[in-house]
Amino acid sequence: MNTLTILPGHARDGAPETFEALSLKPGEILAVVGNTGSGKSRLIKDIEQLVGRDSVTGRLILLDGARIAPANRLLVSDRLVAHLSQNMRFVLDVTVAEFLRLHCLCRDKAANLPASVIALANTITPEPILPGNSLNLLSGGQSRALMIADIAMVCDSPIVLIDELENAGIDKKRAFGLLADSGKLILIVTHDPHTALMASRRIILEGGAIVRILERSKEEALLSGELDRSYERQRALQQRMRKGERLI
Ligand SMILES: Nc1ncnc2c1ncn2[C@@H]1O[C@H](COP(=O)(O)OP(=O)(O)OP(=O)(O)O)[C@@H](O)[C@H]1O
Ligand SMILES: [Mg+2]
Repeated sequence: MNTLTILPGHARDGAPETFEALSLKPGEILAVVGNTGSGKSRLIKDIEQLVGRDSVTGRLILLDGARIAPANRLLVSDRLVAHLSQNMRFVLDVTVAEFLRLHCLCRDKAANLPASVIALANTITPEPILPGNSLNLLSGGQSRALMIADIAMVCDSPIVLIDELENAGIDKKRAFGLLADSGKLILIVTHDPHTALMASRRIILEGGAIVRILERSKEEALLSGELDRSYERQRALQQRMRKGERLI
């Protein structure tokens, strides 16, 4: 996969989207922003489902300039797209170690990889995940952390879609860093300026339509450094608060 192209559809009121074809490449990080109900999750789903003018938005997704036949979509999506959706949890009744062992086996990965995946997940969640933990009993934050480490280390999918990273109680900056280093195309839905400024471009949604695509400016890159410092301060306070300490 070299290019993913989004061709315009229409807003919720039927008005056509006005952007030209939007081409995205592996290694690029995009933020998806807009009010609640503006259509961010729907855009992510359009990409996951590789829609061909047959979703509510009427958008068309091309892979390397070509449409994907409806019969092949599920297979191609499985191979190319990893999706962390809002409020996603594991439902399998196996241990963390067993799940990772099976996943590594399916993907032809080294047998010792699961331990590294768990170690990586534990760098972004404050409550450690143990290999013997039952997968479906992990907390929301632990599940997310494990999925992110799994996507970064085990999945070969070149496209990663993330619907909101911030509500999970994980270290979103580190999580983001892990994924950004993997050379994949990443689209991340966010309501948080700090997260949005980690992306080089942002897609703005309104009324179900993509209304603008903004490149991160030089001034915004500077602001990003400032937000980074307040994020670190906030996290340090958060850790003390969790331990039951006084904050000042
Ligand atoms: N272009 C469109 N035409 C028709 N319906 C749309 C369009 N875009 C989105 N919708 C629908 O509007 C509803 C809200 O969209 P969506 O869930 O994507 O919002 P959101 O931006 O993710 O909101 P939140 O921030 O609350 O998660 C959904 O039912 C979605 O299918
Ligand atoms: Mg949403």
